[in-house]
Amino acid sequence: MGTSEETSKSIARGSLEPMGQLRGASNGSLLCRDDSGDLFVYKPVSGESPLWDFARDTLCRREVAAANLDRLLGWDLVPPTRWTDEGPMGPGMVQKWVEEVDELRPVNIFDTHNVPIGWLSVLQAIDQDGSAVTLAHEPSEQLARMSLFDAVVNNADRKAGHVLADKNGRVFGIDHGVCFHEEPKLRTVLWGWVDAQIPPKLLRDLTGLGSDLGNFHPEIDPFLSETESRELRGRIAELVHTEAFPRPSAQWPAIPWPVF
Ligand SMILES: Nc1ncnc2c1ncn2[C@@H]1O[C@H](COP(=O)(O)OP(=O)(O)O)[C@@H](O)[C@H]1O
Ligand SMILES: [Mg+2]
Repeated sequence: MGTSEETSKSIARGSLEPMGQLRGASNGSLLCRDDSGDLFVYKPVSGESPLWDFARDTLCRREVAAANLDRLLGWDLVPPTRWTDEGPMGPGMVQKWVEEVDELRPVNIFDTHNVPIGWLSVLQAIDQDGSAVTLAHEPSEQLARMSLFDAVVNNADRKAGHVLADKNGRVFGIDHGVCFHEEPKLRTVLWGWVDAQIPPKLLRDLTGLGSDLGNFHPEIDPFLSETESRELRGRIAELVHTEAFPRPSAQWPAIPWPVF
């Protein structure tokens, strides 16, 4: 699969009209409408806040690389996303807006006695009122894929709020600006399968991704540094070799804070 001209055009037609700033965004991200009235998130490079650990002005590029990688895997995790040189505030990324349904949240915090049956518990804590609460997520295949996807892209910020479900219960992952760092930085709420065996189908997809990428892939590598490209291939090889879901690192906080 690839970014055909057609696919790329269907992600926002014509010009993007800004409608407002995204709530809860740490970067200057805008909700926009295209000529046909469809909604998109537009993150201009010029709106990126500098981070201590990621090179300046690279976050939007990482978002596009993550979306392209998802397309190569065929996992349908990331809403349609592409690069634009012609946004209202300059170059950046455009992503289809997902109408989130809060009640269907696939990752959430529950009263410890009310975790839905079958859900996988990730963290126990005591809230402000002294009650025991549990962070848990669905045991779905889509989240299993997302957890592997995050290991592949080295996602440093898979918060519960970065996992959305639409009205059909379709689950999407958003906000992949802090991915692909050359050092291990996996930080996620999706720890429900630590050390579990990767299902054969997903393992085949990962093996396929490794060969699709080869030494250079035009939809991935131009968005990353040379070292990041090399480390990406190393992470895929490691998962294919161990055949197991990743485990938290002892050197790095495993869970993003805040969780949402
Ligand atoms: N494609 C999207 N569909 C629906 N909501 C989104 C989408 N992208 C971002 N959002 C919403 O906007 C908020 C901020 O976006 P995010 O990508 O997290 O920006 P930042 O990089 O600034 O953290 C998200 O927490 C989410 O609520
Ligand atoms: Mg965010």
